[in-house]
Amino acid sequence: MEGVQKPASYIRPALHDAPNKVDPPTDGALRHKGLDTSKILSMGLNESCFPPSPKVIKAMQDNLSSVNLYPDAQCPHLSDIISERTGIAPDCVVWGNGSEELLKGAIDLSLSPGQGLVLPVPTFWGYKSLVAAFEADVAEVGNLPDGNTDIDGILAAIGNNTRIVFLITPNNPTGRMVDQAGLEKIIAGVPENVLLCIDEAYYDFGLHAGGPNVLDILKTRNGPWFAVFTFSKAYAMAGMRIGYALCSDAQLAQALQKTTCVFNVPILAQFAGEAALKDLEYLDFILTNVAAGRDQLFDGLTELGLDPIPSVTNFVSSPVPMNARDCMTAMLDKGVQINAWADPGYENFIRITVGTTEDNAVCLAALKEVLV
Ligand SMILES: Cc1ncc(COP(=O)(O)O)c(C=O)c1O
Repeated sequence: MEGVQKPASYIRPALHDAPNKVDPPTDGALRHKGLDTSKILSMGLNESCFPPSPKVIKAMQDNLSSVNLYPDAQCPHLSDIISERTGIAPDCVVWGNGSEELLKGAIDLSLSPGQGLVLPVPTFWGYKSLVAAFEADVAEVGNLPDGNTDIDGILAAIGNNTRIVFLITPNNPTGRMVDQAGLEKIIAGVPENVLLCIDEAYYDFGLHAGGPNVLDILKTRNGPWFAVFTFSKAYAMAGMRIGYALCSDAQLAQALQKTTCVFNVPILAQFAGEAALKDLEYLDFILTNVAAGRDQLFDGLTELGLDPIPSVTNFVSSPVPMNARDCMTAMLDKGVQINAWADPGYENFIRITVGTTEDNAVCLAALKEVLV
């Protein structure tokens, strides 16, 4: 029949059925649509509103002429720094093209078709496409009404065919983090034959806000685990695509490495990453200023009569008295790019990435006009 495309036999059925690759409203994508992005505040993708450290920029500039060379496949210099700071052996550190590559690796390394994983939702939209590309039996566990992760629900969802349990803390898009007691419960409660994968994309923000040190607690677990970190958020390097996983043992690290491409972390990202890790003063500058901006957004949303979810991250989410996608479009018309939650049941939730003091004020003023 004309117009109906027959599924090609050489493509895995799970990929046929998976939703198309998402097309987030990045600066370039908006420009491609004809928008003048110099007039748009980007507060929709949880990027850093601050540039990377001047030392990171210098490290990249100093090494621009090296891009004719392949990068180190296993980032040994970076692993040494991380190992020294965390006490995790260098052969248990795995580098990725952003942390998303390593989250995908978790599924790739452990799931055969039909086997299961447990995923708390709503969470980072990236998981939906990661999971959809595999023939996985996904047990989604809804967050509690206050936005907190349902730890008991996660443990109850583990079945005989479960191979991985994901935990995202602090979580996106709620901005909430799991407390010490919750972490201890899940670390002890996930069976020893199940891989516990903890997404620490917002790790530095959580610690700065007084949260528990996930890594210290994870080290007490008997079963396999890995924790995934990124340079995209607190290090202001989303465009460089670099992240890493700390694994419970070298066998797991080796398996995770096998899921990645050989030269997956660009050479400039490696130089930049090293400079970023060494500039702790700049990290503190970002964390301190993001915390102040987060308070400004939270208070401003509350003054608008909204009920934002308390966040420890570089974004704040809130229900609004209208459809969130309509709100997002109206805000874009006013020159502010925010985001709407993607999960069914949350059609009136918006998410705003923390901006500079001026950006936050402009965003709140625009929202006030949109909500009347
Ligand atoms: C919870 C969470 N995990 C992972 C990622 C992916 O980050 P990366 O840029 O390291 O791939 C994001 C990005 O927003 C996120 O919010």
